[in-house]
Amino acid sequence: MAKRIDISGLSAYYSAFKAIDDISMTIEPGSVTAFIGPSGCGKSTFLRTLNRMHEVTPGGRVEGKVLLDDENLYGSGVDPVTVRRTVGMVFQRPNPFPTMSIFDNVAAGLKLNGVRKKNELNDIVERSLKGANLWNEVKDRLNKPGSGLSGGQQQRLCIARAIAVEPQVLLMDEPCSALDPISTLAIEDLIGELKSRYTIVIVTHNMQQAARVSDRTAFFNLAAVGQPGKLIEIDDTERIFSNPSVQATEDYISGRFG
Ligand SMILES: Nc1ncnc2c1ncn2[C@@H]1O[C@H](COP(=O)(O)OP(=O)(O)OP(=O)(O)O)[C@@H](O)[C@H]1O
Ligand SMILES: [Mg+2]
Repeated sequence: MAKRIDISGLSAYYSAFKAIDDISMTIEPGSVTAFIGPSGCGKSTFLRTLNRMHEVTPGGRVEGKVLLDDENLYGSGVDPVTVRRTVGMVFQRPNPFPTMSIFDNVAAGLKLNGVRKKNELNDIVERSLKGANLWNEVKDRLNKPGSGLSGGQQQRLCIARAIAVEPQVLLMDEPCSALDPISTLAIEDLIGELKSRYTIVIVTHNMQQAARVSDRTAFFNLAAVGQPGKLIEIDDTERIFSNPSVQATEDYISGRFG
């Protein structure tokens, strides 16, 4: 189910500006990979190239390859909408559809995919909310608006929405940065539970979080403002945080940076 991602020679541009340069890495299925690095080094840009969201930005352009198992997501004839269904995304700010009920927020993608039967929708919505550890908190108010939930609940609702369509990969861009410590731990626990079924990539500025939730950590950096971000190293998280190969990684994780 979970798929391996193989990225080679990937660069991304905003019009003439090259934001990330020549990135290659492999992401193992059923694992959590953390992306860390200073602001502006291209973590979000890179993440969005993994489900073809980058090209939605005006001027957004990509060079290189992203293989999901053996299929190049940028191959000719590949439908970006299908890619985004297979590679789901959770954003920094919880973004439930504001006018929709909790139920409809989770069911929205399913309906787009043509699921119409009421009991099938009920089953998948319940399963997804349970998967996101939110079911007990919302089961009696499924018809209330999603925007009426707390920030941490909204983020779990967005995770439920993302997993309802059964993606193989889940991309998370600083999913806890707007959350309190308790909601953050709830999301981290959830990531630990989800990783057996999904390949997860998470961007975080929180070093403890990277150390807690990820199996592998990739450190990105940029030589100077205006220069493209580069992958400095990727390794087992334990190694990155105890004995990284590159001095810049060590400086960054120990806070001696800039
Ligand atoms: N829509 C855009 N148009 C033009 N340039 C952009 C756009 N979005 C990002 N950039 C530029 O691309 C570079 C990488 O930005 P990106 O958001 O990927 O960095 P980041 O590592 O995610 O930073 P942060 O940690 O602050 O979220 C930056 O120089 C940024 O200014
Ligand atoms: Mg970012």
